[in-house]
Amino acid sequence: MYIDVFATAGGADPGLLAGKTVLIIDVLRATSTITTALANGAAGVLPVLTIAEAREAAAGLTPGTFLLGGERKALKIPGFDLDNSPRQYTREVVAGKTIIMTTTNGTVAIKQAFPAAALLIASFLNARAAAREAWKTGTDIYLLCAGTRNRFSLDDAACAGLLVHCLQELEPGARLGDLAFALRHLYLSYRDDLPHLISHASHYQRLMDLGLEADIAYCLQQDVYDVVPRWDKERNLIVLPLD
Ligand code: MLT
Repeated sequence: MYIDVFATAGGADPGLLAGKTVLIIDVLRATSTITTALANGAAGVLPVLTIAEAREAAAGLTPGTFLLGGERKALKIPGFDLDNSPRQYTREVVAGKTIIMTTTNGTVAIKQAFPAAALLIASFLNARAAAREAWKTGTDIYLLCAGTRNRFSLDDAACAGLLVHCLQELEPGARLGDLAFALRHLYLSYRDDLPHLISHASHYQRLMDLGLEADIAYCLQQDVYDVVPRWDKERNLIVLPLD
């Protein structure tokens, strides 16, 4: 088994991801939000790239069955129901609803990985479960960090390091690509104080400036959920598999 990491959404070649298992990581905040929404009973998440695409998808659905969610510049999009704060996606709000979601980096990374054989959603919130699910596929695994506007982002990198570490525990003979090797060591160096490492991330600063420290604290919790959202090609939705 080969394991490697792409540091940004734009850095991954979709052709290389075809037929592989891909874990998408956008700790602050898209994949933390998607994981929370589905753990709280949302029917599915439809990732789209643009606000216009989101409104178009909404027009095709029955009112009351969906919510529009996401962000631009980390803020709520005018006319949308929810922003990108995972704390808004409570059971009371999302149960049974399809979430149509567009975000600056996270949903871009997800769309980039559509050619994958298995596309899974990972975050600190579900890290161990996500690593286990990816490992079970038995194929090579790529971790695709969303990054921030096509730049390396420490929050995603730290989570990728944790996932590589979990995967290597499951498959000690796995071969690691250069970035997978480096990020595992980054994670191990800071595992007892991840908030300190991640406080250097530019997007961390942006969220702090917006008064969103509670979102950051929420997203940095580890293994709160045992669920792993997965892209379902047939249904054109990210869902929790029934198994
Ligand atoms: C994104 O997808 O760009 C992020 O999740 C931004 C955010 O923090 O809302």
